[in-house]
Amino acid sequence: MAVNSPRGTSDIFGQDIFYRDFVIDRVRELFKIFNFEEIITPAFEYTEVFSRSIGEATDIVKKEMYTFCDRKGRSLTLRPEGTAAVVRAVIEKKMLDSKSLPLRLFYIGNMFRYERPQKGRMREFWQVGVEALGRKDPLIDAEIIWLLNEIFTRIGFRNLVLNINSMGCGKCREKYTEKLKEYLGEVFNSLCTDCQRRFAENPLRIFDCKIDNCRKIAAKGPKISDFLCGECSDHFMEVRSALTGLSIRYTIADDLVRGFDYYTGTIFEINSKDLESAQNALGGGGRYDNLLSEFGGPDMPAIGFALGLDRTVMLMKELGMQYIPAEKRLKIYILPAAGLDKPYFINILKVLRDAGMTCDIDYGMNSIGAGIKRASKKGFDLALIIGEDEIEKGTVAVKELKSYRQYDLGCKDVVEKIMEITGVK
Ligand code: HAM
Repeated sequence: MAVNSPRGTSDIFGQDIFYRDFVIDRVRELFKIFNFEEIITPAFEYTEVFSRSIGEATDIVKKEMYTFCDRKGRSLTLRPEGTAAVVRAVIEKKMLDSKSLPLRLFYIGNMFRYERPQKGRMREFWQVGVEALGRKDPLIDAEIIWLLNEIFTRIGFRNLVLNINSMGCGKCREKYTEKLKEYLGEVFNSLCTDCQRRFAENPLRIFDCKIDNCRKIAAKGPKISDFLCGECSDHFMEVRSALTGLSIRYTIADDLVRGFDYYTGTIFEINSKDLESAQNALGGGGRYDNLLSEFGGPDMPAIGFALGLDRTVMLMKELGMQYIPAEKRLKIYILPAAGLDKPYFINILKVLRDAGMTCDIDYGMNSIGAGIKRASKKGFDLALIIGEDEIEKGTVAVKELKSYRQYDLGCKDVVEKIMEITGVK
């Protein structure tokens, strides 16, 4: 039976795990510094959690959701994103305490979208996201953008572009959509059939069309920035001056709309010039001031972002960047000669692991030479060789795998002796 992983999914192992852990360590460190707490929500929700919030006319809801009925006939969907699920959880578990707002949450999880798989675009992918719920200070917008920017800066990326825009509130959007429709009506026949449908359902979605020509047409039309009301325009100005105050460089992208209906006001995206343009967004987000009330929660504003973990790792690898292990732990490979008394080496394994050293044992036990090669290839620092002689003398032979220096150490104080040799505590 030939079994493959489903199209658009990946098995993550080996070096990729180290890259991923490196990124996760950096983001967790920053979430502590920015005072965000973790939330874990289910990998699937009732379908309406996503369909009502993301928007019925969006590509995600129309074409990309993994939706199925459970055995009782209830419609469930594998999460295509984290925001709607967090909002559902925050309301259901009454987490919004008016005395300590905004509520700052972060999540790390796998998301599912039935997209056409290509480099950097998967059907199952991982996101790291944050949501700050309950306050509408423009400084929070700046803080959130700062955090996303800081993550990529600390990872070591350079060629980044931060695009920002404002979607305005319902009032601004109504006037703008009217004008956009007028304009698109004139060029209707040049739009693809999907966009002709979007024209009727929600013309803003034409900006997310995967066909270049439709996006070009939309970009030539009226700009939302010309329709912002006084309040939205002041808010956006304050966000921009806070970013300038933080020395964060940004570009105003008046054709940026993002593919979700829930956004209001500030939206943003960080792209890498080192990635192909179709999949160059490393992360993005925005304000969604009506979503909590639309879910039946309090009338409170919120803002957040998500970044693509797989894309981040892909870019690190493409740029030949190195991950730096969080801490140096000695990695020791135990090589017992064949036919030896197992409790003897299991005891040594226990002593080393109790001391916090990463240890593994060679169960192949055929040739010491082959075992040493395996240990070097897997990045071990030391090989610990135990033969009949060693057992008789109560010692172990320790080989440094970089220098090939070898030492005979007494079993009793083997941990202290290894630390002395390697200088690692
Ligand atoms: P999004 O822009 O759809 O936003 O996704 C955020 C990031 O996830 C993207 O910039 C990209 O790096 C990664 N990503 C998206 N789709 C894929 C895919 N098919 N394969 C690989 N990576 C992908 C959201 O999901 C919003 N929930 C963000 C947000 C949070 N807005 C407010 N709060």
